[in-house]
Amino acid sequence: MKKIIIAIDGTSSTGKSSIAKKLANKIGYTYIDTGAMYRAVTFLALKNGVFRPDGSIDENTLDSLLGKAKIEFRRNEATSHSDMYLNGENIERDIRGMEVSSHVSPIAAIPFVRRQLVLQQQIMGKAGGIVMDGRDIGTVVFPQAEMKIFMTASPEVRAQRRYKELQEKGMPASYDEILKNIHDRDYIDSHRSVSPLKQADDAYLMDNSDMTFDEEMDVLLKIFNDKAR
Ligand code: DC
Repeated sequence: MKKIIIAIDGTSSTGKSSIAKKLANKIGYTYIDTGAMYRAVTFLALKNGVFRPDGSIDENTLDSLLGKAKIEFRRNEATSHSDMYLNGENIERDIRGMEVSSHVSPIAAIPFVRRQLVLQQQIMGKAGGIVMDGRDIGTVVFPQAEMKIFMTASPEVRAQRRYKELQEKGMPASYDEILKNIHDRDYIDSHRSVSPLKQADDAYLMDNSDMTFDEEMDVLLKIFNDKAR
């Protein structure tokens, strides 16, 4: 079997990372969560007052901060997953909260941010044997990926899943706020001028609103066995 590149793109809170992680585990591939990288840059921006009171972004300051920042994944032996680190500090928990979620879309729309992170992602994945999830993996980062999936589900189903996930982690959450955040992010992610969220022509569309996790996994394994042969 060859070591292929698996690109999983789609709308936010569709369960991409859960299924991508599980798939990677099952087939012995490395999982890379590119959303965590955009979240890390957002955390860096929030921490350094890069958002002005009117919501606009001081791009010059962000550019110089980013030039010096070290954004990396390190394996967490306790969970067997990778955690996000910024300049040596574990920020895995910080990047999952509502503050980062509600500021990440404008950061992910900045061209120099995308350029730097895309380059880093291409370096991490070039040898193959990876499952990478994001918004532009099959279209921009690895247009040559052998297996491409585009995942989506209704906004209400996604908001419910995200609400449950935050509750389980003991993090404060309101369903209405989450639903609004999902609608806002869908809009910004698919209307930005650089690398807007869109399905690659050769991606398999999976709407998982009414699918169980096992059903999703069956579909992915079938496609994988076909592509990696
Ligand atoms: O997958 P996520 O919700 O953790 O992603 C956070 C944000 O980052 C999301 O609003 C879209 C953006 N993103 C992106 O623009 N490109 C990627 N490859 C991954 C995420």
